[in-house]
Amino acid sequence: MTDPTTAPEPVAHQKIDTSVPHSARIWNYWLGGKDNYPVDEEAGDEYTAVFPGIVTIARSSRAFLRRNIAYLVSEAGIRQFLDVGTGLPTAENTHEVAQRLAPDARIVYVDNDPMVLAHARALLYSSREGATAYIDADVTDPDRILAAAAETLDLSRPTALILSNILGHVADHDQARSIVTRLMDGLPSGSYLSVNDGSRGVDPVFEQAQDAYNNSGAVPYNLRTVEEIATFFDGLELVEPGVVPVTQWRPEPGSPTSEVIAEHGGLARKP
Ligand SMILES: C[S@@+](CC[C@H](N)C(=O)[O-])C[C@H]1O[C@@H](n2cnc3c(N)ncnc32)[C@H](O)[C@@H]1O
Repeated sequence: MTDPTTAPEPVAHQKIDTSVPHSARIWNYWLGGKDNYPVDEEAGDEYTAVFPGIVTIARSSRAFLRRNIAYLVSEAGIRQFLDVGTGLPTAENTHEVAQRLAPDARIVYVDNDPMVLAHARALLYSSREGATAYIDADVTDPDRILAAAAETLDLSRPTALILSNILGHVADHDQARSIVTRLMDGLPSGSYLSVNDGSRGVDPVFEQAQDAYNNSGAVPYNLRTVEEIATFFDGLELVEPGVVPVTQWRPEPGSPTSEVIAEHGGLARKP
């Protein structure tokens, strides 16, 4: 392991507001992580009291991401990853999965949360042969993300763009689509797009819990219909089985569940 000498300095404590529940920290709590505050636990528990299924959604979604990366490395030969809306470090981060299979894999993480920035050092322990980097940027600024990513990735070579549970933070669907299009425009033929997101129209209790959360003062997260999620892949070649509940995307043999959950995802290749 190399020393993450390029790791950003931890941000000043006052930039991290521990009085308001925060998406990345609540998600970390549901994933079983420790990087959260009482206010996040409280908001997370309020949510699970209405909809306990969110824990399955969070964990199934991370498992989907792991299977996507394994496919990308082992079957598609991808060695570069741009993971936008990274979240707090947890088990099986993108670079850990990718570099276990291909030590020369290069990964750029992007998030706009100061708490994620403060923990970014843990995301930067790269294998000696590969590289990892962290960009403190907003998904609504795709040009800046591409320019900064080009310092670590060779964007003339196929790259996988990962958007895992981030697009719901962009409320306007047309804006979300144009962000995805702009990011994919910056990547060459043979690149891939991986998206997974909470879905509307599957489980009314999930929608009720999400509406209450969005009205609580927390940064809102907008669920999309499966059809809306599928539009992010327009113009790309979907890898089988297409856009499906994440539990049904190439489940590992003998995996315990392929139940329909309100979290849909897919992976597609840029022609
Ligand atoms: C629900 S978490 C998902 C984390 C991880 N991708 C996963 O699927 O487990 C959403 C992440 O998106 C980040 N995020 C929210 N809005 C963002 C924005 N406008 N620009 C960049 N990142 C953002 C949050 O800080 C958080 O880390």
